[in-house]
Amino acid sequence: MRILSGVQPSGPLHLGNYFGAIQQHIELQEGNEAFYFIANYHAMTTVHDPELLSRYTHEVAVDYLALGLDPTRAVLFRQSDVPEVQELAWILATVTGKGLLDRAHSYKDKIQRGIVPSMGLYYYPVLMAADILLYRADQVPVGQDQVQHIEMTQDMAQSFNHTYRTDVLKRPEPRLNRAARVPGIDGEKMSKSYHNTIGIFEPPGEAKKKIMSIKTDSTPVADPKDPARCNVLALLRLLAGPEEVADWEDRYRKGGVGYGQVKTRLYELYEERFAPLRERRERLAADRDYVEDILRQGARRARAEAHLLLEQVWMAVGLPRRRQG
Ligand code: ADP
Ligand code: TRP
Repeated sequence: MRILSGVQPSGPLHLGNYFGAIQQHIELQEGNEAFYFIANYHAMTTVHDPELLSRYTHEVAVDYLALGLDPTRAVLFRQSDVPEVQELAWILATVTGKGLLDRAHSYKDKIQRGIVPSMGLYYYPVLMAADILLYRADQVPVGQDQVQHIEMTQDMAQSFNHTYRTDVLKRPEPRLNRAARVPGIDGEKMSKSYHNTIGIFEPPGEAKKKIMSIKTDSTPVADPKDPARCNVLALLRLLAGPEEVADWEDRYRKGGVGYGQVKTRLYELYEERFAPLRERRERLAADRDYVEDILRQGARRARAEAHLLLEQVWMAVGLPRRRQG
């Protein structure tokens, strides 16, 4: 099966990215043809500092490799290294009704949070559809917030195939991880653009500060608490084994647990999981050439695939065929 997904380099990766998406990206590299890319064109809807954009882009690559991406199994590349995606996006835009984009939740959420409603932000789902369709992906592993974008991709593929009476574009399916929506320290969806994240590779002191500041209600220690409504427990579920989770849930219902206690345990679990990877990450971060080389090789493979698909698209729409440059 062909698997494809992307992550925006709009800031350091966080637990929402990991449990919502990256963990399954790493798992899926076994036994599948996996393509993962760093969506730097998409990140330009929020990052307008050139130095920051290129630094975050490189850091996402380092993070993926530190978290277990194996470049001999999966193809890892930078979105902008395959500029053909912009051409497919334009072609899709010409068969996409404006009403479809008007319905995008993510666009509405973002402008509500103060992100500038640029044409790029509005067009974002078209570029994302091109990312997916260019590689004929069967499944797209993502968190809940991206599912609508994949449904829009299905619509665009269908509309293109219908308009040009062809079947060159393949209908992709979303694939959700167990943790489809990880809460941030304020209880809202954890997101780089919402300043509520706990990074995967925070320095230990920083992570502790953030975990201790997770928003909770003001139920007194002695009182029973609802385990389904606690942000700390929601995060602890991702890191602890099932028995420990059941035990905490039991203690919540009985009363007598303080949120500080659960936060301290959450921090311990965080350190147990991610501290050992920090060293690997530091080694990779020190070897810029190695990481850049992986991205270059990834781009070469991705570009070859992209070109095969575009040739069929050019033919279907009546654009002249071109040689790969
Ligand atoms: P962000 O919202 O922080 O900018 P991205 O949009 O780059 O993150 O998302 C990268 C991947 O991580 C996507 O598949 C997205 O669905 C997933 N993801 C992001 N935040 C969360 C979250 N809080 N819970 C679950 N998955 C998430
Ligand atoms: N929009 C996605 C996000 O914010 C990132 C992304 C861009 C993506 N292109 C993609 C994800 C294609 C999956 C497939 O998370």
